[in-house]
Amino acid sequence: MIKEKSYYIDTYGCQMNVHDSEKIAGILKEKGYKPADDISQADIIIFNTCCIRETAEKKIFGSIGNTKKYKKVNKELIIAVVGCMAQQEGIQEKIQKSYGFVDIVLGSLNFHNLSDAIDSVLTKRKFFAQIEKDAKPAIKEDMPIYRTSGVNAWVNITYGCDNFCSYCIVPYVRGRERSRSPQAVLDEIKRLLDEGYREITLLGQNVNSYCNDMDNNWNFAKLLEEISKINGKFRTRFMTSHPKDFNQEIVDIIKQSKNICKSVHLPVQSGSNRILKLMNRKYTREHYLELIDHINTIPKVGITTDIIVGFPTETKEDFEDTLSLVEEVRFSNAFTFVYSKRSGTKAAEMPQIDKLTKKKRIMELVALQNKITKEISQDYIGKIEEILVEDTNPKIKGVICGRTDNGRLVNFYGDKKLIGEFVDIKITSAKSSALWGELNV
Ligand code: 5AD
Ligand code: SF4
Repeated sequence: MIKEKSYYIDTYGCQMNVHDSEKIAGILKEKGYKPADDISQADIIIFNTCCIRETAEKKIFGSIGNTKKYKKVNKELIIAVVGCMAQQEGIQEKIQKSYGFVDIVLGSLNFHNLSDAIDSVLTKRKFFAQIEKDAKPAIKEDMPIYRTSGVNAWVNITYGCDNFCSYCIVPYVRGRERSRSPQAVLDEIKRLLDEGYREITLLGQNVNSYCNDMDNNWNFAKLLEEISKINGKFRTRFMTSHPKDFNQEIVDIIKQSKNICKSVHLPVQSGSNRILKLMNRKYTREHYLELIDHINTIPKVGITTDIIVGFPTETKEDFEDTLSLVEEVRFSNAFTFVYSKRSGTKAAEMPQIDKLTKKKRIMELVALQNKITKEISQDYIGKIEEILVEDTNPKIKGVICGRTDNGRLVNFYGDKKLIGEFVDIKITSAKSSALWGELNV
């Protein structure tokens, strides 16, 4: 019997990458590969990479280095490095020089050519690389997708980013902003709901600028409105929003629609106007707080954010502005990052601040946000929340979990047959960021 070939995908970075890996898996499945039980057993290992911070890159190179040993055992093994890190200038050369056992390098705008790349390596046994130079390539609508995200399905609405925040590498590696056609997005959502998915997450670097690049009178609010007209019980989430494009119309639709979750991820990045300007974020602290006031008119809304500390030239006062904004908004959760210098970006040319200061600031910020998250969590105790059951808890046997409409994770003891169902849970306790509860029958 011929052994079926298998693949292992090691994914780094954001949800966009997680979804790209589902497309990579789709290509591999079509080629006759099946998922490997373990990386050591795979016939092809794909690193779907991220370069948003230096820590991600270091980790990825460590993991790539670890696979050299598998090549000694399996001479036919193919190793591929794809995605954002691979798209960066100089990375292909670095890989060829220091990781000569890697067979394929494909940029983030090229991974749909994985099938050709594999065929080339199998026939010629020669290194294959392809890095797209056109920053606005056409959108590929016909890619196979092997979804692995349970009851939740990711749906791209835009690709790339035009904002050029001064710290960020994304516009350089993901190309210019391109919106998918509303018809393609709506058709995909309807198909996924027919297939049984219960939660749709719309993906884009800046979902609020949806269709700004098209001449079609559509915008993000209109897309949400059309989605809200689709029949059936399901949830829609979206990420990421940009404060410069988020508006009242979006707030109104969230309020009116039963299918759009009362959950908004609105990265603020800094509470200091001076730093926001240097970051090229195109809004002020005051504008952001005004938006938060509007969003807070949505009953039970959950607001989360991203914050960077230690941006070049950030002073004690700038950082205090960030802390005071966090106190004022009381985010239900915040993703906090230490600024990481990315070569090629504007901020990389600015005067950097020292490592120790960055470390102290991130610790202070995390402690503050943890306190707030804990306090907000306590308010849920005794309340009944509708949960979409998503998965089993990987750490505790018999425990299943899901999210509230506004995005809070809830664990409870229950039958895994409930996965995919909406259930009412009485919240009994709050542990760090997760809530615990019991079925309310
Ligand atoms: N350093 C630290 N954090 C960054 N982010 C983006 N670029 C950098 C960088 N160079 C953060 C931002 C963004 C999130 C996805 O990653 O907060 O919203
Ligand atoms: Fe990066 Fe800014 Fe674009 Fe987000 S909006 S991907 S932070 S450049």
